Amino acid sequence: MTTTTEAVPTPATAGEPLRPHAEQVYAAELTALAAADDRPRPPHWRLSPWAVVTYLLGGVLPDGTPVSPKYVGSRRLVEVAVATLATDRALLLLGVPGTAKSWVSEHLAAAVSGRSTLLVQGTSGTTEDAIRYGWNYARLLAEGPSDAALVPSPVMVAMRTGAIARIEELTRIPADVQDALITVLSEKTLPVPELGDEVQALKGFNVIATANDRDKGVNDLSSALRRRFNTVVLPLPAREEDEVAIVSSRVAEMASSLELPAVPTAVEEIRRVVTVFRELRSGLSADGRTRIKSPSATLSTAEAISVVTSGLALSAHFGDGQLRAADVAAGLVGAVVKDPVSDQVAWDEYLEVVVRPREDWAAFYRACREVG
Ligand SMILES: Nc1ncnc2c1ncn2[C@@H]1O[C@H](COP(=O)(O)OP(=O)(O)OP(=O)(O)O)[C@@H](O)[C@H]1O
Ligand SMILES: [Mg+2]
Repeated sequence: MTTTTEAVPTPATAGEPLRPHAEQVYAAELTALAAADDRPRPPHWRLSPWAVVTYLLGGVLPDGTPVSPKYVGSRRLVEVAVATLATDRALLLLGVPGTAKSWVSEHLAAAVSGRSTLLVQGTSGTTEDAIRYGWNYARLLAEGPSDAALVPSPVMVAMRTGAIARIEELTRIPADVQDALITVLSEKTLPVPELGDEVQALKGFNVIATANDRDKGVNDLSSALRRRFNTVVLPLPAREEDEVAIVSSRVAEMASSLELPAVPTAVEEIRRVVTVFRELRSGLSADGRTRIKSPSATLSTAEAISVVTSGLALSAHFGDGQLRAADVAAGLVGAVVKDPVSDQVAWDEYLEVVVRPREDWAAFYRACREVG
């Protein structure tokens, strides 16, 4: 035996997961909310709808326990999403990339059911098995169809336990496979003809689907299925202040979960990244005076978060421990210039026309030029 085997950690010694689930990270908040929550809860819900909204948007509980905001945006929109889950209609979160659809879906499932992991990742290769059930073929061959040979999908598990199932990127799933959801959503049952049986959904069961209206059109959601969903559109952050707040808080969380060496939060650099993204997205400089070309990239809040996080890693490991313009420049140019020809033209124009004249942006201008 070589020592290599010893170096491989066993699950017991492997330590913390890289990305714990929402219900793990916010377990304390969820417990405190459940204790403070005296409003009526729909069957099988861990919290009342009011407490779920408080969990998402943040607040202070009567006993003074703070609840951190997870989603920054309109209260009404979150209320509509939560109220939908308490009805017989499913919830479809729709929006351009990086508008926190998956994030909101995970937190909703964690708050409502205490479990965000009943998840189907939609792709063009998703089969009906992933939505209904499959078989353990060894047992199927040995024993014939039986309960023990059946491999339930996350949707089936959610039906049996009265929990929320999540379907990511619903519109990437081929249309005929999507249709497997119709019976589930309208009849709340999943027939298993091989066993002459069915799984009836318990109260509390519902589905949250997400779909992205940029990468692939939502038109491929059949109208029969669409009628079974309430659609909530998640917008890009309306105000620059909100976007700066989102990026700052997420970057701080990421940096601590990645255990990056501490770098002081550099609000000016974060604000600058957000400004650049918003100006390029809208095709207009912040003062409203200069029109510019928008690049093909989405430039979502999620990308702004990763530009700043990479900048922090650069600064912590290779820089002077302060987040500098040069640390964010490389990631920023990479996020903007996705198409080496047309995006490069738009970016160069933006640098010359908008960035260069700003006196307090001189270091940033130089850093971007060096990357280019
Ligand atoms: N309004 C917001 N409030 C809080 N966080 C936000 C907001 N908008 C974006 N984010 C952050 O952006 C990140 C990415 O979000 P997420 O992956 O959920 O996007 P998405 O809409 O599912 O994108 P995609 O279409 O690419 O799947 C998350 O870390 C989330 O915290
Ligand atoms: Mg997503």
